[in-house]
Amino acid sequence: MNKKTISGRETGKSNSINNIEKPENNTLITAEGLYLYYDNNEEAALKNISMKIEKQKVTAFIGPSGCGKSSLLRCFNRMNELSSTCRLEGKIHIQDQDIYDPEVNIAELRRNVGMVFQKPNPFPKSIYENVAYGLRIQGEKDKDKINQIVKSSLKAAALWGEVKDRLNSTAINLSGGQQQRLVIARAIAVQPQVILLDEPASALDPISTLKIEELIHELKKQYTIVIVTHNMQQAARVSDYAAFLYLGKLVEFGKTNDIFTKPRKKMTEDYITGRYG
Ligand SMILES: Nc1ncnc2c1ncn2[C@@H]1O[C@H](COP(=O)(O)OP(=O)(O)OP(=O)(O)O)[C@@H](O)[C@H]1O
Ligand SMILES: [Mg+2]
Repeated sequence: MNKKTISGRETGKSNSINNIEKPENNTLITAEGLYLYYDNNEEAALKNISMKIEKQKVTAFIGPSGCGKSSLLRCFNRMNELSSTCRLEGKIHIQDQDIYDPEVNIAELRRNVGMVFQKPNPFPKSIYENVAYGLRIQGEKDKDKINQIVKSSLKAAALWGEVKDRLNSTAINLSGGQQQRLVIARAIAVQPQVILLDEPASALDPISTLKIEELIHELKKQYTIVIVTHNMQQAARVSDYAAFLYLGKLVEFGKTNDIFTKPRKKMTEDYITGRYG
């Protein structure tokens, strides 16, 4: 991989030659010794966080309000830099790319590491144009290609069937759950490696929530997903790995099943059993 480019999807080449499996490195994102400070505050919002995020798995960040879940998520596509004067210490690599290297193209990083927020944020444009947006920004002119990607992205986001007859209607009239799936389609259209979801279902009704959870399950076949959720049942249902944060520290990180059935730390157990938070 070119050192200075954040690559999109991998080539899909198998790592098995003549059926001899080579050991596979499944880590996609590595965070090492992260400290995040906002507004010259002396106290760090993230304190010495190190973790590895696996490819094509769902990793959930859990923990009480204000513990740093969204802050940590935003480190992975440098979104923190938009909102305030913040300072990050430590390193984040996506594969072998240091994403804080000054030569990194931030727009390309954010294409490769897409983000979906709590409140659906479709643009005040048609359904079609919302999904085509990133392609147009990239200068794509081929109409057939755009048509095809809009369709495949809406299909991948489990929305195609509901909108295929009204692609030119405004996205604003879609339901909250449909808008959230549209935003996911918009992220997928530019072929990211990673999708960051910050409480993507917390503003949705139970049926729309279920659809998003089913969608996450499908998406992880192709994408690496990191999700913030306050809902412990949701974390247990959708994630393969879970990270419990408290007061800016990573208290425990492991397989979701282990975190929920045999947490190593008492603090984790207290949180997941609803004793605080
Ligand atoms: N843009 C910002 N400017 C200054 N401080 C911030 C900013 N964003 C977050 N913080 C602070 O960083 C800490 C962690 O906040 P963060 O939003 O990451 O927590 P969270 O775990 O996502 O909480 P919630 O569950 O309520 O969304 C908090 O003390 C918060 O006040
Ligand atoms: Mg948050």
